[in-house]
This record gives sequence, structure tokens and C-alpha cells, in this order.
Amino acid sequence: MFPQRGTTMFADGRSVRPQVLHTVARGQLYESDYFYTGLMNGKEADQMPFPVTMQVLARGQERFNVYCTPCHSRVGNGAGMIVQRGYKPAGNLHDPKRMAEPLSHYFYVMTNGYGAMPDYKAQVTPEDRWAIAAYIRALQLSQNATTADVPAGTQVQNLNDIAEKAGLPASYAGPWPMPSTSVYEPPASGLYSGAPGQNPPKPAGATNATKPTKSDVGSKPPAKTSGAH
Ligand code: HEC
Repeated sequence: MFPQRGTTMFADGRSVRPQVLHTVARGQLYESDYFYTGLMNGKEADQMPFPVTMQVLARGQERFNVYCTPCHSRVGNGAGMIVQRGYKPAGNLHDPKRMAEPLSHYFYVMTNGYGAMPDYKAQVTPEDRWAIAAYIRALQLSQNATTADVPAGTQVQNLNDIAEKAGLPASYAGPWPMPSTSVYEPPASGLYSGAPGQNPPKPAGATNATKPTKSDVGSKPPAKTSGAH
């Protein structure tokens, strides 16, 4: 058979065969529910399904930087580049609500999506989703770590000092404001659904270059009172 080409061998003409109903392909036997669902007796749990090693964390960091930073940013504050271009602010992984979530919540969100966030189960394998979840915990610790959290003798530098030495402005290591272009809540009318710049509140004086003009929107929506369609 040539991949993606037809055949006369099967009645339906397809060379690529669908999986036979009620059979399990090799490597697809989901033996451990928790590993694949992140749920234990239907509930999220604060546990890894396999041991966390430095290798697991490094893999989690690498996958997080590939798949999550466009929206969540490298530090996980939810102000990634896509948000700066108008996407809904992604969850800040350092706020008390997200910090308090059990570990498998992060796995569950990646697997099933969450609100405006699409799911990543097609792009990220279950093992990698767990590695990312473990890395999120490391990221959370990193934001409030002290010298007591690292092995004795390890040099810990303050971000403000690093910024100062690099000649960066004093505000560099400070909190990172949400851009005025990000979408805060769904628009009141469905007309501009998903368009950036439709949603208050904006900081005083903020300009909004992406707000659609009348000509972007096109013809007027049909008047509600007219029954004619
Ligand atoms: C396309 C942008 C985007 C990407 C990429 C993305 N997220 Fe999100 N994420 C969001 C948005 C937006 C929210 C907030 C959703 C809402 O409140 O509607 C969110 C929320 C979350 C939350 C918080 C859920 C809660 O309990 O409030 C977690 C955890 C999370 N994302 C993890 C991840 C991880 C891990 C990845 C990488 C695999 C990822 N996200 C990739 C946009 C994204």
C-alpha cells in the first residue's frame, strides 16, 4: 500500500484502514486512569503518577517554553506575546487560586482546555503534560524562593541586582502590567465576538490601535424589530 492512496483490495477503496471497533492498538492500552485523565475517583489530586527527576523537570521546562509561553509567558504570569496582541489574559500561575490547585489540575487543563484556553492533548503527550505540571510547581516556587530553598553554598542573585548590573531600568524586575489590548471579558454583543479591543476597562489614556472601525465591521446587522429576513 502507498500511504494516503486508494486500493482496490478493500470494498471502500481505502488503503488506510480505520481501527477495528472495540480493539486496542499496541501502546494505547490506558491501564492507569490517573496517568491519562488526571482524575482519581473523579477528582483532581495533588500527586505525580511517576517520580519527578531533574530530567523530568528539564523536559517540562522545554515543553512549557514551547507550548505555553506564547500566552502564559516564560515566568507564567499570563502576559505572553499572544495576550499582548489582544488574546484573553491567560491564567497567572502565581496567583493564590492557581497556586492552591492540586497538581493534576494543570494536567487536566492541558488535557481538556479551560475557558478561552484550547486543549493541548493532541500536541503534548500525557507524559509531557505531567512533566509540564511538575515544572509549573518549580516555576511557582521560583517566584518566591529564598536561599533556604537551594542547596547550601549556591549563589542566589536578586533579580533587581541583575537588572541593575545589566543597565536595565529599575522597573524591569517589577510587576508586569497587562497590556491595554488584551481582552478582559466577552463583548456585550456577539457582533465583534473575539475581536480585540472591544472590552473595557482600559487604563486612562490607553490608546487602542486594534479597535475595529465601522468600515471593518461591514454592513449593519438586521434590525431586531423587522421580521423580514
Ligand atoms: C493560546 C493561548 C494559551 C496557551 C498557548 C496556553 N494557555 Fe493556559 N490559559 C489561557 C487562557 C486564556 C486562560 C484563562 C482561561 C479563562 O479563564 O477563560 C488559561 C488558563 C490556564 C490555567 C488556569 C486554569 C484555572 O484554573 O484558572 C492553567 C493551569 C493553564 N492555562 C495552563 C497552561 C499550560 C500548562 C499550557 C501549555 C501546555 C497553556 N496553558 C497554554 C491561554 C493559553
